[in-house]
Amino acid sequence: MIRFHNLSELQQWTASLPSNRAVGFVPTMGALHEGHASLVARAVKENDEVLASIFVNPTQFQELVDLDRYPRTLEQDCEVLERLGATAVYLPTENDMYPRGFQTRIEPGEGAEWFEGEKRPGHFTGMLTVVLKLFQQTRARRSYFGEKDAQQLFLVRRMVEDLDLNVEVLSCATIREPDGLAMSSRNARLSETERFESASLWRALSAAKSAFDRGERRASVLEQAMHDVLKATAVEVEYASVIDDLTFRPPEPTLDEHEHEQCLRAILAVRLGAARLIDNLLLGHA
Ligand code: PAF
Repeated sequence: MIRFHNLSELQQWTASLPSNRAVGFVPTMGALHEGHASLVARAVKENDEVLASIFVNPTQFQELVDLDRYPRTLEQDCEVLERLGATAVYLPTENDMYPRGFQTRIEPGEGAEWFEGEKRPGHFTGMLTVVLKLFQQTRARRSYFGEKDAQQLFLVRRMVEDLDLNVEVLSCATIREPDGLAMSSRNARLSETERFESASLWRALSAAKSAFDRGERRASVLEQAMHDVLKATAVEVEYASVIDDLTFRPPEPTLDEHEHEQCLRAILAVRLGAARLIDNLLLGHA
């Protein structure tokens, strides 16, 4: 597997590629787990070349301490990518992303007003700006994102549509531990007891899904089903909400003939010890 240590090395490669070679792109911040592996494995199946990137993007972190303690496991990550059959990994420098004088940013719309956007001010501006730069630098025509970061995926799709970007955004289902905990690099921060408690996120989402499958459509009742599970645990709930998947906002109760058909998703964010965990589950059409 080739390693590009800066933008100019990457550009030499992209310039030398025949235009009919399909390149699949998997952007990451490293600390790769099985969730990332599923994205790379799918990209390998669907493309001639697979390019992953590893860049711990400072502008999407709110707290310096969180950025500092983000795991950096480059050699392990490269082994994983190579084993999965990736062609190359792009390791941009900070200067490739934010050269001196950098000042232009992507401002997300209403889909970023709530939930992660509200709890982590500036996070989505930083994330979208770096994703757009990565799309431009890699000239990717196909990109792969995990469904665990549902609001991120929603906003990337919006950006691609709103700004007429010529890149297809493909998503892969969340990969879970046997007890349902979604794979995340942040799980490493859980103590043994917290790891045990963390299975309650999946139980809460499953409780909302069971209520939905029994015919419940009221967001408040579906949300209560999640809270009922979580209140018996040590997790500190930031939000446990139901959203309309087409707007990433709370579902609107009013329907007129112009209204789209709503599709509900249960989403939650909790704090558990030193970790902040998020997860979500598609419930279905309302
Ligand atoms: O999901 C992530 O790891 C990051 O938000 C991304 C998409 C690589 C942008 O920094």
